[in-house]
Amino acid sequence: MSESNSIDCRSRTDADQMPFEIDAFFGDELLSRLDEHQSLIAPGAPALGLAELSIEVADDAWTLRWDGDRVHLASGRSAGNRFRLDAQDWTDIVHDQITPMALITAGLVDMSQLGMDQLMNWWVVLRAALDGRPVPTNADIAVKAAHRSFEPDDDPSDMRGFLEDAGYLHIRGVFTPEEMSVIEADYATAAENFAEGDFLGIRAATADGERHLVRMIAFERFSAAMRELKADPRIAQIAAMTGCDLVPPSPTVALDKPVGIVNGIADTPWHKDCSLGRHSYQCCSPVVGFYVTDADADHGHLRVAPGTHRALVWSPDQRGLDLETRDLAARAGDISVHLSCTLHMAVPPTTTPRKVVYTRLDHIDPDPEAAQAGRARLNALRAGARVGGLSAKD
Ligand SMILES: [Fe+2]
Repeated sequence: MSESNSIDCRSRTDADQMPFEIDAFFGDELLSRLDEHQSLIAPGAPALGLAELSIEVADDAWTLRWDGDRVHLASGRSAGNRFRLDAQDWTDIVHDQITPMALITAGLVDMSQLGMDQLMNWWVVLRAALDGRPVPTNADIAVKAAHRSFEPDDDPSDMRGFLEDAGYLHIRGVFTPEEMSVIEADYATAAENFAEGDFLGIRAATADGERHLVRMIAFERFSAAMRELKADPRIAQIAAMTGCDLVPPSPTVALDKPVGIVNGIADTPWHKDCSLGRHSYQCCSPVVGFYVTDADADHGHLRVAPGTHRALVWSPDQRGLDLETRDLAARAGDISVHLSCTLHMAVPPTTTPRKVVYTRLDHIDPDPEAAQAGRARLNALRAGARVGGLSAKD
């Protein structure tokens, strides 16, 4: 792993992941971790409003209760919130391969006796105990600097400092409007290669029923200009600025955001890219946005919650936190960099469609084969490849 900073916050490797006995985990490991990290849990936990949560793994159950100043853990179930899952899914949650949100999103959790907020707030406490990260308070997400934009020739150490602190960056005029015009023209020709039903081409509909191609994955296959920009020294400079050892840019995703989408997702709601899992294996990856068109109140734009990449934040409305949000206006040819676990969303356009191309700069995996196996498990959940409930497993 590269030098320690707030961009590279990896703390696990797939190759080091050890199996464990569920009984021993609850009866021994979790108790000792809760004790060990009590000072990281106590300041933030009271604001979470924690009610009792029973975790039922196969035929056994344990109940977590907030006692006012610490977590109480006992065997058996209570009448409160019930989180039922199989041993493999619990193992994957403990190892941070998946989050409870991944199981909820995949429709694999019985929510009839379970509040999502309660489950996710307890997940914050669990992660604090297992990972030694604080249950966040406002101090943990405080950002030193007000919003500012950078010029390409600004001092890279200033950019890095801002990125590490705020979790995002805006650099003006990295590319020319003419370079972006070429990319925009390639949108139309590339789109011809994404037939309806192609899983690499995502569609969404406006109120008139028209279906729009809003996302082209691996766009550079059909754009020589995009292939050149990915390999451009200006992108290499941004990668170097982070101070991390990063692999070449990932396949690009070309987004086209029409006005008035009512069915499907052209503009994502608040999320971290690690919302479904694997934070401690791969975050924070810098995500680079090429602004093909302007971004503003008319075109829509990226909105970020600065400082959230440094904290266990799963929702913009997380209890106990007063998140600041910032809207990133930009011109065609600008670049944005947001970290994969900075809480972010896309504000839809109001009058004019927006185009932006994203690529991710991932950290070098110490064991690529093991990492690929971990990613494959999470991707199966994301793709809905696992169905059927508690015992379903690939
Ligand atoms: Fe995202």
